[in-house]
Amino acid sequence: MRLITVVTQGHKPVLFSEVMQALNIKVNGTYIDATFGRGGHSRGILDLLADDGRLIVIDQDPDAVTAARSLFAGDPRVVILHNRFAELKRAVRALSIAGKADGIVFDLGMSSPQVDDATRGFSFTADGPLDMRMDPDAGVAAAEWLDTVECRQLEQVIRELGEERYAKRIAFAIVSARQQQSIQRTRQLVEIIEQAVPKREPHKHPATRTFQAIRMFLNKELEQLRDVLPQAVETLATGGRLVIISFHSLEDRIVKRFLRRESKGDPYPPDFPIPDHQLTPRLRLIGRPIRAGANEVSRNPRARSAVMRVAERTEAAYA
Ligand SMILES: C[S@@+](CC[C@H](N)C(=O)[O-])C[C@H]1O[C@@H](n2cnc3c(N)ncnc32)[C@H](O)[C@@H]1O
Repeated sequence: MRLITVVTQGHKPVLFSEVMQALNIKVNGTYIDATFGRGGHSRGILDLLADDGRLIVIDQDPDAVTAARSLFAGDPRVVILHNRFAELKRAVRALSIAGKADGIVFDLGMSSPQVDDATRGFSFTADGPLDMRMDPDAGVAAAEWLDTVECRQLEQVIRELGEERYAKRIAFAIVSARQQQSIQRTRQLVEIIEQAVPKREPHKHPATRTFQAIRMFLNKELEQLRDVLPQAVETLATGGRLVIISFHSLEDRIVKRFLRRESKGDPYPPDFPIPDHQLTPRLRLIGRPIRAGANEVSRNPRARSAVMRVAERTEAAYA
């Protein structure tokens, strides 16, 4: 096992050694990196695969796909897909690997290059067009959504996905401001939020939570996660590993509940006359949730909120 930190084109992969260990790589196995980013985890997997191993990489961001193509050009072990990961089932069928993958890794959220490129509109520290789509050719840009969204829905998104206590004030400020001038730039949005927030949290930019909420909403991040989890289980071979890193408490809750449910088997009422061994759990939990240590967090502050959960596919089939 190589215990190294891979830095790939401005993105430091989180929990690198832990992911490699959790995937339990077989040299001739088939692996899926469902969130390629800049390929930190993908490169670690490929380093452990022999010539007959296989790696499918997925990302919805065209810049990530371009990076994957230049990184892996000519490597016959790699298949690169420009897809949302919620289309996993269709993609793996097309590749004839349904039920055959030995490991799948999801490293959720955004990559550093997405945040650092002001033209993508994710950053509240650099001015740029207010876009925030991970795939700029799909869905609605933040500027367009903010132009028409109802105040109440905006408040709800900011409160629920941003866990922002001043959601009502911020939503009201945005809706009032757009009556004077449409909000097209990140700088405009930041200024509106700064003025609306009465009290700043220490060490946190006042726009952090609102930007996070809008990004999660527009990219349907929780829906994508909910949709893909059962598909991932169906994609795994018996003994295959599912490794998920989340950065947000709502994401982690979805993952935790799903893994718990799948590791208990089908939900029968407690008095249903079926013995425990016939409850057919499709997953077995591996270890406890893992967080980054202080060393990693000091080198890579993104790792601070990362939680990794791991499970292994059993032989039980879906009904
Ligand atoms: C945190 S980064 C992954 C970083 C990667 N593990 C590395 O080491 O470079 C998350 C990536 O997942 C992609 N992504 C997020 N949600 C996605 C989805 N629903 N479908 C496909 N890609 C997604 C983002 O575009 C981003 O490039």
